Amino acid sequence: MVAGADAASPQLSPYLVIFLCLLCGCSHLCAAATVTYDHRALVIDGTRRALISGSIHYPRSTPEMWPDLVEKSKNGGLDIVETYVFWNLHEPVQGQYDFEGRKDLVRFVKTVAEAGLYVHLRIGPYVCAEWNYGGFPLWLHFIPGIKFRTDNEPFKREVQRFTTKIVEMMKQEKLYASQGGPIILSQIENEYGNIDSSYGAAAKTYINWTASMATSLDTGVPWVMCQQADAPDPIINTCNGFYCDQFTPNSNKKPKMWTENWSGWFLSFGGGVPYRPVEDLAFAVARFFQRGGTFQNYYMYHGGTNFGRTTGGPFIATSYDYDAPIDEYGILRQPKWGHLRDLHKAIKLCEGALVATDPTYTSLGQNLEAHVYKTASGSCAAFLANVGTQSDATVTFNGKTYHLPAWSVSILPDCQNVVFNTAQINSQATLLETKYVKTYSQASDQPINTSEISESSWNFIKEPVGITKSSAFTKVGLLEQINTTADASDYLWYSTSIDINGDEPFLFNGTQTTLHIESLGHVLHAFVNGQLSGSGMGNSGNAKVTLDNSIMLAPGKNKIDLLSVTVGLQNYGAFFDLWGAGITGPVLLKGQKSTTDLSSNDWTYQIGLHGEELGIYEDSGDSSIWISQSALPKNQPLVWYKGYFDAPEGNDPVAIDFTGMGKGEAWVNGQSIGRYWPAYVSPQTGCATSCNYRGAFSSNKCLKNCGMPSQRLYHVPRSLIQSGKNRLVLFEEMGGDPTQISFATRQTVSLCGHVSESHPALLDAQNTAQSNVPMLRLECPYPNQMISSIKFASFGTPYGTCGSYNHGKCSSADALAVVQQACIGVESCDLEVSIKLFGDPCRNVIKSLAVEAACT
Ligand code: GAL
Repeated sequence: MVAGADAASPQLSPYLVIFLCLLCGCSHLCAAATVTYDHRALVIDGTRRALISGSIHYPRSTPEMWPDLVEKSKNGGLDIVETYVFWNLHEPVQGQYDFEGRKDLVRFVKTVAEAGLYVHLRIGPYVCAEWNYGGFPLWLHFIPGIKFRTDNEPFKREVQRFTTKIVEMMKQEKLYASQGGPIILSQIENEYGNIDSSYGAAAKTYINWTASMATSLDTGVPWVMCQQADAPDPIINTCNGFYCDQFTPNSNKKPKMWTENWSGWFLSFGGGVPYRPVEDLAFAVARFFQRGGTFQNYYMYHGGTNFGRTTGGPFIATSYDYDAPIDEYGILRQPKWGHLRDLHKAIKLCEGALVATDPTYTSLGQNLEAHVYKTASGSCAAFLANVGTQSDATVTFNGKTYHLPAWSVSILPDCQNVVFNTAQINSQATLLETKYVKTYSQASDQPINTSEISESSWNFIKEPVGITKSSAFTKVGLLEQINTTADASDYLWYSTSIDINGDEPFLFNGTQTTLHIESLGHVLHAFVNGQLSGSGMGNSGNAKVTLDNSIMLAPGKNKIDLLSVTVGLQNYGAFFDLWGAGITGPVLLKGQKSTTDLSSNDWTYQIGLHGEELGIYEDSGDSSIWISQSALPKNQPLVWYKGYFDAPEGNDPVAIDFTGMGKGEAWVNGQSIGRYWPAYVSPQTGCATSCNYRGAFSSNKCLKNCGMPSQRLYHVPRSLIQSGKNRLVLFEEMGGDPTQISFATRQTVSLCGHVSESHPALLDAQNTAQSNVPMLRLECPYPNQMISSIKFASFGTPYGTCGSYNHGKCSSADALAVVQQACIGVESCDLEVSIKLFGDPCRNVIKSLAVEAACT
């Protein structure tokens, strides 16, 4: 432990650091670093740090994307990249490990290190994370006597084994800071404190065991537990949430740390698309540092994609975009990324004072707060907040007046000048478009719009209804699904038959009855004599399905085949591992006069699909089984489709628009890009037309896309696509038309900025003392691009949003010409938002500059 809270933390001479680095020949962390902590902060090599971190989960992108994501994180002002470790990816079968490709944890950590950033490794091994089964491998559930997340020997043995395996792996590669590597922090368990009361007295013994097990692994860097108020020393308890400024750790010897600041929220199939305004996110971060915090992590900084069957659930969507500062495709989400970058610069300017002491609080009026960090040596940083949601305010602080918009924080790194206000965005915004592309059919070499890819180039195979596999087995009664499939597949067939004479009391009109099925979820398709009689699905709030289908039975033997489908296993909550799925009954035939119960019949079970057994999406798949007749089945359940496409031109990220399809899974060149489900539409209501960032945020406060498919576009990472022919295989479960599928790229079509005279000046400009005037900076997103046109420019009182700005009552006649002159033909341009540049179109009015530009 290092110095007390009121003493300035000791500094290593920067020259010494540079010298040491040169000596070791590495860019960032060369020699072993000591990482400790005290009341104020994490202490790295004797220096207290104010640290900005962001979550990027390595399997939610591809190794080819990692360097770019990390670079963008670094440019956004992150010091640290945080990731969970996903046990079920790495140990799919007990004792058999996999660290290849997207699972190459070591490569990921090294990629972060190469950019000069630190790593926070959250080993869990329970991770939650909207990840299948919270990251636990399914085999764990079948260990005799096991009980998860409590004081249970078989469970603790496995947790210790896996945690040790990961720690040893990191040590072997010298990845801990104590060895000269980037890992400065590790997490054990995850938010156990949220649910530990359900585990009784054993919870305490378990958490104490977990703490000492982790500590004994001797990583040389601190461990944290999030949402664990009773985390035993030396483990630091940390906060997760939309706001954490009110949090205090459980000891005065521990720093105030925020491990999950939710930058948005996750998407569920059947739900609207959540987003979190950056003004509120920046407010939350600034409030945290204002009130003594020194470590903050965005969950997520890049959310990415849930490839394969990795989503948790149930019903977590394939996109894990999360409204993060870097979007699912790896594109900067602007102005979110840029506004946070500016915030990080402002916080860094305060770092010295911030880590040196606790803040002093003064009230500046109702809802108006000043916190000042002042050191003995005279450095001073201040944060002024208006936590009211209704009115802007003018405050007097140290004899000067400051304007504070509602729900905002101003940062004054010298206790005098505002360099940043959370509600005033200087950063440029971008407008993205989904461009539908033409690809070229191999067969004809003619350009064909993929939405019309010739029917003849699709092949198909029908997945048989009911039991076809030799591994099928028969049992009396209905079985719970997850215990039966061990999650080897989403699919479980329940099959039985019934002999009909025609005089059964549960029949009416001789043949008719109602098939009533109750399932724990998540999706159910009922077939009677080979024909789909009905489907049902649960939702993220209630996975259960009840079906009541009117059906006709024929004299003689009638087959009832029920396909029960899981959509990601539960990942959160007390005893989440025991949540069941599938048809646990009853299954009834209900007539007008009586009912018969089929629940205790002989049921035959088949785990998985015929096509899955054949591996027909894999490269080695036997192509002779595919049918290539012209009459392609459309809108029929249980069909496999195969088609070929050429890589869309250019480097922009690629998506498939699955509009026209129902629900299923898709593979590109043998790799699953996840479940698709465009047929699941979000509710009509719940989306606000515009979301007011002022006031406390919650996960359903700001939704978009109401009444539309929850997810239409599915990311296909460029690295999965090869030049020439690419194979797309789909399994369609409900019915769809693959000829309606289209390929698209995500492109930036406009850069925008809207900056007022009352905004703080750009930090760079101010740092170099060039100017104290606010600036609007436009910068093309890709290297070698130039600003090619100005679509809109107005100085005065323009209004609207990027893509739809309008001139206000007051507007300078020169604006367009001035902006064209300054910006066309260059990669980036800075425009002073002042009457000096644009003239004064209306005196005594606060004016702003709005610009929309394009780059080529
Ligand atoms: C937290 C959890 C994360 C993630 C998040 C919601 O409770 O620790 O893993 O699930 O919620 O996205």
